Amino acid sequence: MVIIVTGGAGFIGSALIRYLIRFTEYTVVNVDKLTYASQPEALESVESSERYIFCQLDITDHKSVLEIFDQYRPSAVCHLAAESHVDRSISGPSEFIQTNIVGTYNLLEVTRNYLEKHRLLKRNFRFLHVSTDEVFGDLGKNESPSTEASLIRPSSPYSASKSSSDLLVQAWGRTYNLPFLISHCSNNYGKWQYPEKLIPFFVNQALSNKSLPVYGDGLQIRDWLHVDDHVSALMALLTNGVVGESYNIGGSNEQTNIDIVTQICDSLCSLDKEFNREYVNYHQQIEFVKDRAGHDKRYAINAEKIKRDCGWQPTTSFETGLQQTVRWYYQRFYNESK
Ligand SMILES: NC(=O)c1ccc[n+]([C@@H]2O[C@H](COP(=O)([O-])OP(=O)(O)OC[C@H]3O[C@@H](n4cnc5c(N)ncnc54)[C@H](O)[C@@H]3O)[C@@H](O)[C@H]2O)c1
Repeated sequence: MVIIVTGGAGFIGSALIRYLIRFTEYTVVNVDKLTYASQPEALESVESSERYIFCQLDITDHKSVLEIFDQYRPSAVCHLAAESHVDRSISGPSEFIQTNIVGTYNLLEVTRNYLEKHRLLKRNFRFLHVSTDEVFGDLGKNESPSTEASLIRPSSPYSASKSSSDLLVQAWGRTYNLPFLISHCSNNYGKWQYPEKLIPFFVNQALSNKSLPVYGDGLQIRDWLHVDDHVSALMALLTNGVVGESYNIGGSNEQTNIDIVTQICDSLCSLDKEFNREYVNYHQQIEFVKDRAGHDKRYAINAEKIKRDCGWQPTTSFETGLQQTVRWYYQRFYNESK
């Protein structure tokens, strides 16, 4: 069986591919443009596998992507390729429209053409579109977490582009019978995240003796999930998800941004002690800066549907997961600066 993973050189895609090669029999075709956000090093452990194929391609390139489908005959697509950083979407939305909307449209058309050519495949085929909880917009402090039935209310160009891609996927399902599933996951953390994202960014800033700039009052709330738990949820959807349905994925683990930064500083102090480095009070580097435009106050996700219908459960506690993750970036920082 062949699975195409788009964006497989990114943070979540690479974790998914490492899982697929290690624990399943799938042959994995990674379609990735290798933008600035990709982390090819994260795939070193799978590169020697005969079941791993890498194609450097832009998902907006219809002809080349269709050739890959015809050549490898996938029975599933996990679509993760995206521009994914909210701040960049505010300063330059164009790439987000191009990759997240036009790219998804192109992939849907490629999949439709491919399935029409190879009709037999359609019954067992899956198009898993990986989206984000940010499409639901922000919630008040006492509002219930977003469910699959919540309104789509994006705030940033990033979440608007992801919302648009969700709508395209739904329409291709309804109009062309494309067998899709959509997932909406909360904030992921773990190793191999591009260092502009919150956790690696703050670790690197702190260790470089630079300011730790926290937006606004730092009280914005996000739900956090370990990337390996996101991967196990995607696997559960591929196996047990119902075609045409969307599923929320989350850790029921709401944290304010300032709490996360404080926990990072605490972990760094413990690591310095363990590695006999001089004591640094990283907390003193925290600085509150002008809030991000349109900054969502709170995201929270109700993930009961995937738990109930697909038997999925997250297994990494946030405390342990965060400590392991900070340790990983800490060691990488010192290895790289040797
Ligand atoms: N990171 C999170 O917390 C989170 C949470 C929920 C959902 N998501 C979604 O999961 C997916 C993966 O997120 P991530 O954090 O791994 O992203 P990432 O930015 O780390 O990786 C994205 C990957 O997509 C590739 N890519 C970008 N444009 C491309 C194009 N035009 N053609 C082919 N490849 C292209 C990049 O090279 C990169 O390898 C995204 O769709 C994102 O919206 C992310």
